Amino acid sequence: MPLICVAAPKGGVGKTTLAANLAEALHRAGRCVLAIDFDPQNALRLHFGLPVRDGAGFVTELPQRPDWQELVRHTACGVGLLPHGTNDIHAALRLNAALEREPELLLAPLRAMLADPALVVVADLPPGPSHPLHLLAPIADLVVAVLLADATSAALVPEIDSGRFLGTGTMAALHTGRVRVVLNQVDPQSRLSRAVAEALARHLGPRLLGAVCRDEAVAEALAAQHLLHELAPESAAALDIEEIAQGIAALLPAPAEAAVP
Ligand SMILES: Nc1ncnc2c1ncn2[C@@H]1O[C@H](COP(=O)(O)OP(=O)(O)O)[C@@H](O)[C@H]1O
Ligand SMILES: [Mg+2]
Repeated sequence: MPLICVAAPKGGVGKTTLAANLAEALHRAGRCVLAIDFDPQNALRLHFGLPVRDGAGFVTELPQRPDWQELVRHTACGVGLLPHGTNDIHAALRLNAALEREPELLLAPLRAMLADPALVVVADLPPGPSHPLHLLAPIADLVVAVLLADATSAALVPEIDSGRFLGTGTMAALHTGRVRVVLNQVDPQSRLSRAVAEALARHLGPRLLGAVCRDEAVAEALAAQHLLHELAPESAAALDIEEIAQGIAALLPAPAEAAVP
C-alpha cells in the first residue's frame, strides 16, 4: 500500500542508487517491495542485475493498458522490479502527450498495485519537476528528497521547504509534510561537505532522514550490477542506507497492520 517516491530537484544526486538500495533494505526487513522506475534513463534495472541490452519496461506498453502484475520482474534479491524501458525521443514525446491527455494511463495501474495492502512501492523519479512526480506526489505517503552536501543543493532547500519542488500554491503546501530529506555523498574529509551537511541538519531538523557518506563501494556495486548490501554489506554507505531504511520503515504502517484489508 505505501508509496515512497525518491525524487530530487536536480539530477545525479543518487536517487536511483538510493531507490534500489532502500528497496532492498526494506525487503530484507520483511516487507514485500516493488521498485518502479519512472525515469527515462532506465537505470534502476542495472542495480538489480538486469542485462544492459534488456530494454523491456512498462512505459512502452502503457498505451496498450497492460496489467502491470504481468510486467513485474523477479530479481535475485527478492524485490519486484518494474523497469521503465528504453524509449526513443519520438516515443517519449508521444507518451508525454498521451499522459497529458489521460493521466489515468499511468495512475490506474499504479493504483491497482497500491491496492495490495502488503506491498511497499518504491518509485524512482526523474530529476527536477517532471510529469511522473506531478502525478505521483499527491498519492505518495512519503517523498524522499535526495540532496548533496554542496552549494547547489543548499540553494535548492527553499524549494523543499515550500513544497514548490512538488507543486504550486496550496497543493505544494499540502505535500510539504510528506517530504523527508536524505543527504547523499557526504564527505567527512571535506570542509565544505561537512559544513553544508551540518547547516542542513540544523535547518531540516526531524525532516532529515539521514545522510549517506561518499563511498567508492557505491559506484563499484553499480559497476558490478549488484546492490550495495550484496557487494559490501559492511561498507560505510551500506550501514548509512540501512539506518535510513529503518527510519523509513518506522514511518510506514507495520507489516501486520498492512496485511489487514
Ligand atoms: N554515496 C555515494 N558514494 C559514491 N558514489 C555515489 C554515491 N551515491 C551515488 N553515487 C554515484 O553517483 C552517480 C549518480 O548516482 P544516481 O543514483 O544514478 O543518481 P540520480 O539517480 O540522482 O541521477 C552514480 O555513478 C553512483 O554510483
Ligand atoms: Mg536516476
